[in-house]
Amino acid sequence: MRKILLTGSSGQLGQSILKVSANHNFEIIATDLESLDITDPNAIEEIFSAEKPDIVINAAAYTDVDKATEEHETANLVNGKAPGLLAQASKKHNALFIHISTDYIFDGEKNTPYSESDVADPANAYGKSKLLGEQAVARSGAAALIIRTAWLYPEYGHNFVKTMIKLAKQGKALRVINDQHGSPTYAGDLAEAILFLAGNRFPSGVTIFHVTNSGTTTWHGLAEKTFEYADIKADLSAVSTQEYGSATARPMNSVLSNERLQILTGYSMPHWEEGLMRCIKALENKD
Ligand SMILES: NC(=O)c1ccc[n+]([C@@H]2O[C@H](COP(=O)([O-])OP(=O)(O)OC[C@H]3O[C@@H](n4cnc5c(N)ncnc54)[C@H](OP(=O)(O)O)[C@@H]3O)[C@@H](O)[C@H]2O)c1
Repeated sequence: MRKILLTGSSGQLGQSILKVSANHNFEIIATDLESLDITDPNAIEEIFSAEKPDIVINAAAYTDVDKATEEHETANLVNGKAPGLLAQASKKHNALFIHISTDYIFDGEKNTPYSESDVADPANAYGKSKLLGEQAVARSGAAALIIRTAWLYPEYGHNFVKTMIKLAKQGKALRVINDQHGSPTYAGDLAEAILFLAGNRFPSGVTIFHVTNSGTTTWHGLAEKTFEYADIKADLSAVSTQEYGSATARPMNSVLSNERLQILTGYSMPHWEEGLMRCIKALENKD
């Protein structure tokens, strides 16, 4: 059985990978910040030597988009430098390195979906740190997949879908942005795709894939469907990005094209509304 070393296993995506791995034929060595700090080269070498993984999935990251400007040194260390350390170790120990990246490496000004060959130009410190990570992986010479995703949420952790449900149940009035466009992605669906890709063979070097649920909407559209599927009455209104007034710039267009995934592997991602339904069902089963 092939062995996967998973970093960030307590995070939203990490937990989703652990959950869906029950349907796949991999042995998973799950690590979190406590058991493997990905910024520590000695700890990386130690675990690679001890476990000898065939595949490494890096689901660890610094993900606080709003704090990343102030904490850019930490963001750049975790998101920018550490993926390079993991990729170098993967090369040395002959493992496939799978790294997770983001739509935030783009400025969001394009009018059509972003393809893997579009030029990266991040609009904020978090996006800059994630782009540094992609570049470090490319420099390492490891056999690697960089998987860019967007608007991720599972039944775990803190995310938009869970926050909307919580606030609506508290009777709060919700003003939600209706002019940023993206493809909400259920982390369970992304985890399935990642493990599918982990089982495939790819040419040497780096292959980038965009992997999101299919279809597009706005944050307001996602909130509306969340309340419909969760059967919650909410006081929801639509606002523009300008009216909302966040200090951190975010892409207006976060839509990533999954065409390469489909063409090279035949894998299709489910529609975001199906993913949302599965997440809400999983949340109801947790209650
Ligand atoms: N969430 C989204 O909407 C979204 C969108 C596009 C792309 N992505 C990408 O998807 C990936 C997974 O994101 P996520 O939403 O699952 O993030 P998450 O829930 O914040 O999980 C990230 C995990 O990494 C851990 N971590 C932080 N620093 C670490 C270090 N030095 N060593 C080891 N672990 C460390 C965190 O631990 P602590 O919690 O203890 O700090 C956390 O458990 C990331 O690469 C992210 O950039 C996310």
